[in-house]
Amino acid sequence: MPNYLFQLGHQPHISRAEIISVLDSKQIDYQLKSADTNFLLLSTSIPLFATELNYQLGGTVKIMEELSTTQNIEADLGNYLNRIVPTGKINFSLSGPNATKHAIAIKKNLKQTGRLVRYVEPKNTATILHNNLIETETDLNIVYNRVYITRSIQPLEEFTERDYSRPKIDGKSGMLPPKLARILLNLASLSKNSTVLDPFCGSGTILLEAMDLGFSHLIGSDISSKAIDDSNKNIDWFIQKNKNSAKPQLILSDVHTLGQKLQPKSIDAIISEPYLGNPLHGHETKEQLKKSIHELKTLYEDSFQIFSRILRRNGVIIFIIPEFYLNNDVIAIDCLSRIRALGLKSVALDPESDSLLYRRPGQFVGRRIWKFVIA
Ligand SMILES: C[S@@+](CC[C@H](N)C(=O)[O-])C[C@H]1O[C@@H](n2cnc3c(N)ncnc32)[C@H](O)[C@@H]1O
Repeated sequence: MPNYLFQLGHQPHISRAEIISVLDSKQIDYQLKSADTNFLLLSTSIPLFATELNYQLGGTVKIMEELSTTQNIEADLGNYLNRIVPTGKINFSLSGPNATKHAIAIKKNLKQTGRLVRYVEPKNTATILHNNLIETETDLNIVYNRVYITRSIQPLEEFTERDYSRPKIDGKSGMLPPKLARILLNLASLSKNSTVLDPFCGSGTILLEAMDLGFSHLIGSDISSKAIDDSNKNIDWFIQKNKNSAKPQLILSDVHTLGQKLQPKSIDAIISEPYLGNPLHGHETKEQLKKSIHELKTLYEDSFQIFSRILRRNGVIIFIIPEFYLNNDVIAIDCLSRIRALGLKSVALDPESDSLLYRRPGQFVGRRIWKFVIA
C-alpha cells in the first residue's frame, strides 16, 4: 500500500475534509496514518493519480509519495537517483532539515561513481516545474525523518489567473477565493452530471471553478443585474480559453422568487456563499451588527425554505454562514433550528465539528461552511 503525504493549505482542517471527501467520492480506500497542521499522511489501497487529484483539490499544495528508506538517507537517495535516472545527467532537488548538507554528500557520492549530477536548489515551485523534476521523479523531500518524492504540485498560476485576470472582479460585495470555491464543490462529493445551483452567484467564482472541474449542468442566479452581467462576462472569458466548457444558465432573481423560476426537485446540489451583509470596518456598534444579523438570519431561513422545495431527494447543500468577530466577541447567526425544521440535516465535515470555519487572521467575518442533506 503506497503512503501519500499531502501538504495542506493555510486552512489545514478544511484541506483535510476536502481530501477525505474527494477520496470517498472516488471510492478510494485509505487508511489515515497521521495528521497535523501541515501534513496529512494516508496509505491507499491503489496508487493515486496525483496530478489529477491535486488539480481537483483547492486546498492541497503538494502530493508526495513515501520512498522506503533505511536509516541512511544519503546512501538510500543516491541509490534511488541512480536507479530512477539510469542514464544521462541526474537533476535533483531536496528540501527539509539539513537538505543542502545531504544533497552535497549525495552529489559527491554519485559523481565518484562517474555520474553527472546537478543539485537544483528548491527555491520555489517554479524551479521544480521549470526543471521538470516531477516528471523525472527527482524532487525529494525530507519530512519528519522520512523521504518523499513529489508527485504533483497545485497549479497555482491557473488559480491566480481565474482570480485576477478574469474580466470582472467584484471587490465591493466580496469575492470568494477560487480555491475555497473549489473546496466547497468538492465537499459536496458530486458526480459531474449533477445539476448545481449557486443562488448568490455574484461574479461567478463558484460557477467558474465548477466549469473548470468539468460540471456541465450549472445554474447561477443573483438579485443584482450587475452580478449577472459580471458572471456572464467571466463565463464567456472562461469559455474562450476552454472551448469545450458548457455555458451555465444565468437567472436574474431574488432568492425569494427562485421557486417560481426553477422546477420543484430539479436541483442536485446548491453550493453557495450568500450575501454576508455590508462589509465591516471593525467600529460598528453592537446595535448595527444586531440589525444586520437579524436581516441575514431572515434571508438565510427564507433561502432554505426555497432550497428545500427545489432540491431533489438526495440533494446536498454546501452553504457558508458567516460569524462576526468584533472586540473579542464572536457573534453567530442562529438559523440552524429553522433549517432543521425544514427537514434538512447537517452532515459532519470534520471529526470534531459539524462545520468548518474559514477565517484569515484579523478578518472581522469568519465563514462557517455547512453541509446539509434532506433528512
Ligand atoms: C458575497 S456575494 C457572493 C460572491 C460570490 N460568491 C462571488 O465570489 O462572486 C453575495 C451576492 O448575493 C447577492 N444577493 C444579495 N441579496 C440577494 C437576494 N435576496 N437574492 C439573491 N441574491 C442576493 C448579491 O447581489 C451578491 O452578488
